[in-house]
Amino acid sequence: MRRKLAAGNWKMNGDAALLAELGTLAEHQNANGPQIIICPPAPLLSRAHEITKDSPVDIGGQDCHAATSGAHTGDVAASMIADTGATSVIVGHSERRGDHGETNAEIRAKAQAAWAANLTAIICIGESEAERTGPDTLDVIAAQLDASVPDGATGENTVIAYEPIWAIGTGRVPTLDQIIETHDMIRTKLTDRFGKTGNAFRILYGGSVKPTNAAEIFTAENVDGALVGGASLKAADFQPIIDALDAS
Ligand code: 13P
Repeated sequence: MRRKLAAGNWKMNGDAALLAELGTLAEHQNANGPQIIICPPAPLLSRAHEITKDSPVDIGGQDCHAATSGAHTGDVAASMIADTGATSVIVGHSERRGDHGETNAEIRAKAQAAWAANLTAIICIGESEAERTGPDTLDVIAAQLDASVPDGATGENTVIAYEPIWAIGTGRVPTLDQIIETHDMIRTKLTDRFGKTGNAFRILYGGSVKPTNAAEIFTAENVDGALVGGASLKAADFQPIIDALDAS
């Protein structure tokens, strides 16, 4: 049985008011529900952990450097994220790939750095709009999965997030059939590569998940939860998504 997971990616949003929302969210969770991870910007990690530490809500980073320390101005090492009390980190988000030119090889190295710091790596993959409308959509996603996930990945140290780039922040989502087809393909690739362990990985869907569409998305067998951007910024939006996941 895979534990369901609702992860919120605050991206470059967050301040004291948003931390108050996090307090509201933390108060309303029960330990038997889905796992909940909130990923605030790095400067807020410690405060976020302080607010959630006695609740079932976990904290995660949004990115880490592959190196353990050194001359990398502005970057954050995985151990620094772990030191705040966070237990996971997103790597390979399409906004990092796009804004910072991150390659699959760098993302593999970041995932390994996360593991070395005892963090779960939430590894993101997903196609562009041109790749979705082209003839090789599933092959493109499969190649990205292969190249972004290091050997040594397990269901404990890694979560896969499938986020079609064209669905992020647009209000557009793939059809349920497309989500099912893609997540089933990812599951098959994981079991082909890792054997039975491949069944233990959580596979999240991300891209315009809202209270209005969450329940339908969660009907897919290989959708184990969601990675949510905009709708994770308000407890009143995120809670119905968590509740839909819990009920699925
Ligand atoms: P939205 O939910 O705002 O579309 O963002 C999805 C995302 O990129 C989460 O990482």
